[in-house]
Formats: sequence, structure tokens, C-alpha cells
Amino acid sequence: MSVNSFSRFLHRFTPRSLPGRFFLVMVALILATQVIVNNLWETQSRNDQDQAIRDVAMNMALRVSATVEYFSSLPTRYRHVILNQLRDMGGTRYFVTLNREFIHIEPFQNTASHQIVLDVFRQTLEDNVTTHGKIQIAFSSPETLRVFNNDTLLKDLPDSWGQESLMVKPLALPVLVIQIAVGEGEWLYLATLMPDSSLMNNEQLSEPLKASYMAWMLILMFIASLLIQKMTRPFKKLSMAAQTFGRNLEPVPVSEAGCREYETTARAFNHMQKNIQHYMNDRKQLFSGISHDLKTPITRLRLRTELLDNDEERDAFNQDLNHLEMMVKSALQILSDTDIHENPEKISLKNLLDDIAQSACSVGQQVQVFTDNSPAVINGKPLAMRRCLENLIGNAVQYGQQAHVYLISVKGCIDIRIRDKGPGLPEGMEEEVFKPYFRLEHGKSCNPDGNGLGLITARHLVNIHGGYLKLRNYPEGGLEVALELPEDKH
Ligand SMILES: Nc1ncnc2c1ncn2[C@@H]1O[C@H](COP(=O)(O)OP(=O)(O)OP(=O)(O)O)[C@@H](O)[C@H]1O
Ligand SMILES: [Mg+2]
Repeated sequence: MSVNSFSRFLHRFTPRSLPGRFFLVMVALILATQVIVNNLWETQSRNDQDQAIRDVAMNMALRVSATVEYFSSLPTRYRHVILNQLRDMGGTRYFVTLNREFIHIEPFQNTASHQIVLDVFRQTLEDNVTTHGKIQIAFSSPETLRVFNNDTLLKDLPDSWGQESLMVKPLALPVLVIQIAVGEGEWLYLATLMPDSSLMNNEQLSEPLKASYMAWMLILMFIASLLIQKMTRPFKKLSMAAQTFGRNLEPVPVSEAGCREYETTARAFNHMQKNIQHYMNDRKQLFSGISHDLKTPITRLRLRTELLDNDEERDAFNQDLNHLEMMVKSALQILSDTDIHENPEKISLKNLLDDIAQSACSVGQQVQVFTDNSPAVINGKPLAMRRCLENLIGNAVQYGQQAHVYLISVKGCIDIRIRDKGPGLPEGMEEEVFKPYFRLEHGKSCNPDGNGLGLITARHLVNIHGGYLKLRNYPEGGLEVALELPEDKH
């Protein structure tokens, strides 16, 4: 997997929200710590267990060696007698017989612990038993264990035979069998169980312990997720306040209490809101001041023009004054268009577009709306949104004969495309046409009354609704206006 595709994979599966990310990091760290601690603990307890098995096996092997030595030292005819006496006394954990043949032991699936016992036994017996006959040490399942000779299975004998020394029922633990040749045709046969069977058991945690461990982990994670949510809540509120302010430029003061980083951000945000509002008020005052100041000299000039004798000059003056007046008017228009004082409300863009298309069609314009039938609801200013869409659809009709409007909403985002059949824009003009009063030759000839303010107004209105607007020449001809707006899901 390349670095790029790995980061794409991460991006895709990483939660988008801050609490989600915190939670993911926390869970990953807890799991990693658990794996490491578990590993260390297991290694340590394995080592301790192995050592304990070695000690027990060594102890047993030394006692077996002593027994073998003692038997070897007895005259052959006494060996059976001594054995029978021992068995009659009971109380031993060894099942000992003297056999005439070597008894075959079925192969057994040894664990690592079994292997340790076998190794220690072999080594100790080899070191301590002076008889140099054959020694065989193996584990056997009690089910297949043979005693006395190769034809007698332990399980076929009455319980009293093996049960006393081997306790094979009901646990069916593996039996350790040692066979040593102590004379011609004489095999000393010892079978026993390991004294502490739990030592040989490799199981780590019991099932109920595992379940309670998991339950505790889940409870802790749940508590941690509540705490994370509590800690990140102020950031969520801050983000919502920023969105609301971006939409209607009405300051939404946020609480400044919280951790140091949040406190700094919230204070800066509140400060920024105040500054922007201040700036907006100044701008409004400046605009109305300028337009008022300009209107008075224009009116005065118009009166003076009337006093001119020369008709041609008077006409030229009048034309310039008309132009000047139109510019002042449109400057005022843009101010009132972009500063529409409306309360935001839920607007279905589908209904709005259908309505605009119907009005346009009723005056003979070719406007068609194609939707995926979702209502495409935004939280915005209805009049401002209408003006914005009417401007763009009006352009398409004026400069491109027709407007085909496509509306779809995907993953909380509303996508509107307005396509026409006109010449589109010359290369490099996609941003130029957003400049105030900028008009192309084709625009001037198609619509002599235009001001060159429609696009800039539309873009401003889309921006204050939290969206963006872009132009591009459609590959199959004509201009395509692309608008994206955040959908209101509540
Ligand atoms: N769909 C279009 N196809 C081709 N050119 C366009 C299109 N839309 C806009 N233009 C060009 O961009 C210029 C600016 O458009 P804009 O809407 O800002 O102003 P306008 O239409 O000229 O005047 P008004 O202020 O009345 O809207 C237009 O004059 C025109 O040359
Ligand atoms: Mg226009």
C-alpha cells in the first residue's frame, strides 16, 4: 500500500468529529497498552510456570531414581514380594509393576510443559540411575495406557487398580510412564500423574474472568466517551456560532470559559465578530454618505446643463450625467441587494427554482428545472436567494438563449448547475466577470441595459449562505454556473 493510498484509507475511516477522533485515539492506546502488558505478563508467568514444572519434575525424578536403584539392588526373587507389599499398603501416588516385557506407549500430543517434564526426567534418570538398561519416559492418555503387558489396557481393569494411585477418573489427565530395564526380561514400570495438574495447564484467563474484564473495559470506554463529549462541547458550540455568524453576520457571543486553547479561540472569535459588525456598520454609513453626496452635485450639474446654449454640448453633457447617475444608482442597488435584512428561514430550493422557472416561462423564456425530487432545504434568506438565482438564470437566458437547471443534494450539500447554449466565456475571463461593472462585448450587445453587477451580487449572496459559486465553459458548449450550498438537515 503506497503512502498516498494509506493516507486516503486513514482519511476515509477516521471519524470527522473531534470527539470521534479523541475516542479513536483513546481506544487505540488502551488496546496497544493491553497487548503490551498482556504480553509481558504472559512471558513472566510462563517463565515462572516453566521453572515450577522443572522443580517438581526434578524432585519426582530424583525419587524415581532412588526407587530404581533400590529395586536394582534387591535380589530378583524378592522384587515381586516387595512390590506386592507396597501396593497392599496403599497411599502411594505411583502405580509400580515389574513386567516381563517392554510395554508399548501410544504416541501422545505433548505440550511444551510435557516436554519440559520429559527432558528433566530423562536427564535426571540418566545422571542418577546406575543401571545402564534402556530407559523410556513418555506421557500417555489414560484411555490407551497399557499395564502389566501389551494386551491389558488400564481402562479395562476394575477401577480399584489404577484409580487409587492414578486418579484417572473423572479428569482423564495424561499419565507419565517410566520404564527401565532392571534385569534380563525385567522392566520396572512406574506410572504417575503430575502432582499439580494446574501447573501443566496452559490456559491463561478463565472465561468468566475474560467476560468481566471486557465488561469493565466497555464501562470505562463509555465513561471516557462521556467525558470527551463534555470536554469538546464548547468547541461544537463555537463551530455552530461561526456558521451562524457566517450566514447572517449577526454576532453570536460564545462563552469564553474552558481550557486555555478554547478560551483564547473563543475570545478571539468574539472579538472578531464585534470588529466585523463594526466594519459593516461603517461601510453602510460610508455608502449612503457617498451616494447622497454624489446625488446633489449631479442634480446641480443637470440644472446647469439646461442653461447651455449649444445643443450638441448639452446632449453630450446629459449623456455623461445619465451614465454617472446610473453608476451611482447601481452602486446603491448592490448595497441593498447584498444587505437584505431578512430573517433566515427554511427554504426549499426545489420549490424556489420551480417558481422562478414558471414565471420565466410565462414571459416566453426557456427555463427548465431537473431535480432528484428532494426538497433541497437550506436555512437562508428567501428574497436574497431568489435574487441570486434570478440573476444567474437571467444571464443564461439573456446570453445563452435558455437555462437548464440541475438540482441534486448529496451528503448534506446542495449542488445546483445552470447551463445555457450561449458562447460561454473567453479563456481566462471566469474570474474577471465577477469584477463590478465588468461586461464583455457579447454581454453589452445582448443586454444593453445591464450594469455588470449581477454576478458579483450573486456570488456575495451565495457566500453569505455558506456556499460558493464558480463558472466554467461546459464541454458541450455554453456556460455552466456551479453553486454549492450547505443543506439544512434539521
Ligand atoms: N451565461 C453567460 N454567458 C455568457 N456570458 C455571460 C453569462 N453570464 C454573464 N456573462 C458575461 O459576464 C458579464 C457580467 O455579468 P453580470 O451578470 O455580472 O452583469 P450583466 O448581466 O452584464 O448586468 P446585470 O448587472 O444587469 O446583471 C456579462 O456582461 C456577460 O458579458
Ligand atoms: Mg446579469
